[in-house]
Amino acid sequence: MNLFEAIKKAEEKGVAIGHFNIGTLEYLKAIARAARALHLPVIIGVSEGEREYLGIHHVVDFVRSYNEEHSEPDGFHLFLNADHTHSIEKIEEAARVGFDAVICDGSKLSFEENITLTSEAVIKSKKINKDILIEGELGYIGSSSEILKEIPAGAATKPEDLTTPEEAEMFVRETGVDLFAPAVGNLHGMFAKGKDPKLDIKLIYEIRDAVKIPLVLHGGSGNSDEDFVSAIKAGVRIIHISTELRVAWRDSLSQSLKEKPDEVAPGKILPEVVKAIEDVVTNRLKLFNNIY
Ligand code: G3H
Ligand code: ZN
Repeated sequence: MNLFEAIKKAEEKGVAIGHFNIGTLEYLKAIARAARALHLPVIIGVSEGEREYLGIHHVVDFVRSYNEEHSEPDGFHLFLNADHTHSIEKIEEAARVGFDAVICDGSKLSFEENITLTSEAVIKSKKINKDILIEGELGYIGSSSEILKEIPAGAATKPEDLTTPEEAEMFVRETGVDLFAPAVGNLHGMFAKGKDPKLDIKLIYEIRDAVKIPLVLHGGSGNSDEDFVSAIKAGVRIIHISTELRVAWRDSLSQSLKEKPDEVAPGKILPEVVKAIEDVVTNRLKLFNNIY
């Protein structure tokens, strides 16, 4: 099954595929374990920075080897997404090395510039791999998966700044993207205390009806369970989670180091970290896939 077919399946079932960013190989292990236990497909996301740190070829090879060993015809599979990619050069690189999807991030550009960049990304990446899925983004929602003290500067949160169905329809028609990420009240990052602002669920329905392609919800960390359930009902088929995993990684690592002050073997310190990330992914996957 390729990613397009997996999204179609999610549509039929009324569920969303979890997209989780990885910062180290412990994340990959944790996400694969959670998805394998639930027999679900998931998307591994690597931003430009994460690709740089991990090594783009290493990520591709690790994901391929997990799939060769554990992929199930209608269950577990790791798809690979080149998250938030800003240049044509990096988009083409992701297409060349075997990513299933790539996000052309023109969200900080003007509407016209975003259309120009994203159209070029669609044409050039599909020349390299006709099956690669290209996601376009409209509306700036902040750029970092971090703990927020305030709404990121310039992020669309006021109703009049969110993506409109009309703009969305025109953007998708002109660029030919396969997947669409709107600004519907979502934010990259999460607040340390309390939930993120509420999503505009009515707007998600309207955008889904206008664009008629699968919607992707970015900035999932910190949103309420009720908002996730309503967003999936409204047509969201992929949900991105990153900050929640980073918090689990940091908290569990510092706890494990505190509990074992004399330990120097990574294999005795890091299993707790893998477990903490796995727990977050399991809970999110159950929610996104209606598993109780
Ligand atoms: O592309 C990455 C995501 O949109 C993650 O957002 O850190 O708020 O979960 P998040
Ligand atoms: Zn994102």
